[in-house]
Amino acid sequence: MILLSLRLINKTFIVERGEVHAVCDVSLDIEEGEFFTLLGPSGCGKSTTLRCIAGLETPTSGEISLGGGLVYSSARGSVVPVYQRDIGMVFQSYAIWPHMNVFENVAYPLKYGSSNRMKKEEIRQRVSDSLSLVHLEGMENRSATLLSGGQQQRVALARALVRNPKLLLLDEPLSNLDAKLREEMRTELCELVHRLGITAVYVTHDQLEALVMSDRIAVMHEGRLVQIANSHDIYNRPVNAFVAGFIGATNFLDGRFKRDSNKGTCGVTETPIGTLFCSAGAEFNDGQVVKIALRPETIQVEDSKDKVPSSPGKTMNVFEGDIEILDFHGDSLVIRVRVGEELIQVKTDPDQQLHVGQHVYLVVSQDHCQAVPF
Ligand SMILES: Nc1ncnc2c1ncn2[C@@H]1O[C@H](COP(=O)(O)OP(=O)(O)O)[C@@H](O)[C@H]1O
Ligand SMILES: [Mg+2]
Repeated sequence: MILLSLRLINKTFIVERGEVHAVCDVSLDIEEGEFFTLLGPSGCGKSTTLRCIAGLETPTSGEISLGGGLVYSSARGSVVPVYQRDIGMVFQSYAIWPHMNVFENVAYPLKYGSSNRMKKEEIRQRVSDSLSLVHLEGMENRSATLLSGGQQQRVALARALVRNPKLLLLDEPLSNLDAKLREEMRTELCELVHRLGITAVYVTHDQLEALVMSDRIAVMHEGRLVQIANSHDIYNRPVNAFVAGFIGATNFLDGRFKRDSNKGTCGVTETPIGTLFCSAGAEFNDGQVVKIALRPETIQVEDSKDKVPSSPGKTMNVFEGDIEILDFHGDSLVIRVRVGEELIQVKTDPDQQLHVGQHVYLVVSQDHCQAVPF
């Protein structure tokens, strides 16, 4: 069942120099229980979209429904205020009140957020339950200023969950934590969201975070949604060069597409390093200018011609060149191979015996040569 829908949401800010179109025609449907991520570079409109869902920002136009009811409609001129939306929210900055203790911070939405007053004992119980969800049981009386960054973030999460909202909105909640804690919290947060059966809309600019945590990812660019898919497809089937380049490392080659009449979405592409058999994430016309995206870890390196498939073609591409740069990363070896005018990055096994200057053969399957719109 769909819990949240956005229809043609636009948000324009009036600034001194004119207008900023922060969100352009964003439409999406999020299923109940889904962990949904808005991913994109800084300034692409993620926070503004999330704030429109929360009711902290009023869109310029469009429609938002939550749990089957309209919470915003420009056409009908209706806006449901923040506190009447069944939502909990966590910000990057934590937004913990420093003059309050942990209990008062977490209880805040119960005391001031809802229209019907709750009994003291129920508030106490709800706060206690919420704190145990984030592993801060018994910390009620601790002063907020004495908490570590990680604990403050947990308090913020407990506060967001205290009203048992249907929808949890998280805006870069882990960005201020150090790398190790961020990784731990990533797993814990995901587990908690799924265990509670809550629906989450998560905002991040961190592609790895998005790939690891999400059921589905919406990639945003300059206010628009460019692709909505699961992590696997976002990574392996990017719809354009922006998505391919933003998520993970990618080699790009300029190409001209030629359709393979027997295979719907496959073709060959003329590139600066020769003709490549490729697959296409979109419909291309014969002769259309495209980019070929090649992931470094999908390219196999062989040091002798004997190890290369004897009759490449259709499913395998082979090209040769000399290793120019070699970097040991511990868990991998990252090399750059000069093939004609191009420098191709390859990520390979750290135990492979390779050296700078070596002549090598690069093998990559057709499936891993993705033609994407220019
Ligand atoms: N209150 C505001 N007033 C003017 N411009 C804003 C405001 N909030 C956001 N913007 C602009 O809208 C665009 C999108 O911002 P934002 O949604 O915060 O991006 P993100 O969260 O993806 O980094 C940016 O260009 C930003 O400068
Ligand atoms: Mg933001």
